[in-house]
Amino acid sequence: MLTLGIETSCDETAAAVLRDDSVLSSIVASQVKLHEKYGGVVPELASREHLKNIIPVIREALAQASVRLDDIGLVAATYTPGLIGALLVGVSTAKAIAYAQGIPFIGVHHGEGHILAAHLEYPGIGYPYLALLVSGGHTALYHVKGLGDYRMLGQTRDDAAGEAYDKVSKLLDLPYPGGPVIDKLAQEGNPLAVNFPRSKQAGYDFSFSGLKTAVRNHIYLFKSKDKGIDPALNIRDVAASFQAAVVDTLVEKTMLAAAEINVDKIVVAGGVAANSSLRSRMKQEADKRGMMLYLPGMDLCIDNAAMIALAGYLHFQRGETSSLDLNPRPSMPLTTPG
Ligand code: KG4
Ligand code: ZN
Repeated sequence: MLTLGIETSCDETAAAVLRDDSVLSSIVASQVKLHEKYGGVVPELASREHLKNIIPVIREALAQASVRLDDIGLVAATYTPGLIGALLVGVSTAKAIAYAQGIPFIGVHHGEGHILAAHLEYPGIGYPYLALLVSGGHTALYHVKGLGDYRMLGQTRDDAAGEAYDKVSKLLDLPYPGGPVIDKLAQEGNPLAVNFPRSKQAGYDFSFSGLKTAVRNHIYLFKSKDKGIDPALNIRDVAASFQAAVVDTLVEKTMLAAAEINVDKIVVAGGVAANSSLRSRMKQEADKRGMMLYLPGMDLCIDNAAMIALAGYLHFQRGETSSLDLNPRPSMPLTTPG
């Protein structure tokens, strides 16, 4: 069974082809260059760029998989959450293909796609497990009991971790997206240089806005409108100290939650799961506790369509499909009712 996956929720136009649960091709056209000069994603520009790229990206995914559109048996597309205009492009394209080809269509929750990406790399992973979903739009812990059975244990009260990276990068006059840039600078800095606050949210909730403000206040001691950033500010140390605060919180809450729900498997998913320090600290702490850690490769952590195709395929196998009336939604929780 061949599944075509489509992802256009933010600033990557992506298409992938899966044969059952293995990836034949995964194409990602990034819009980073387009949005970079604005310091973040401009929704209207993103939609137009998706429109321009979607058909060539799908063609490329089919070509790299050496399959024809007529061979595809299922089309899956991200329908929530995300930028509405961006989601519309992927969903409309997927529905049009499904209608024209007479094949089923299934809408996928982007967050579910991120979590299930781990199953592409570790097909035998099984359930249950704890999933930390950390991206530009999400920071949440889920008790994943089975496919479609996700109980949220806690989430951010304000900014997502990726969003905090992007904002700190902007404060340092560094490019968008901030995650990879800060990650790289942090490797050359001292994480103990500045003692930024760790969030004190109750339970498994997170908060990154206080940290962002603390970083901003620190940077503003060295920044002026006319002269920019004073070279006396060691941006490597700021990056490393900020990153240490983010990673400390993510690792601490994840380990506490894993112990409380009594699971021995942890999945870390989403764009921030590409972070080198988060990866190594999670590994260390999981090893200490004899827990299995499942970290998808970098390409599967950042937005891609292979994870969307897989989520669609797994639900389809259970007999689920979506109606062609399904409309994109800017937001929707990924939780199991009750
Ligand atoms: O999952 P993703 O590609 O898109 C969303 O669904 O949001 O995540 C993008 C986010 C951005 O905020 C980006 O700065 C962050 O992931 N990111 C990273 C790294 N690579 C990407 N954050 C920290 N370290 C990284 N290496
Ligand atoms: Zn994402």
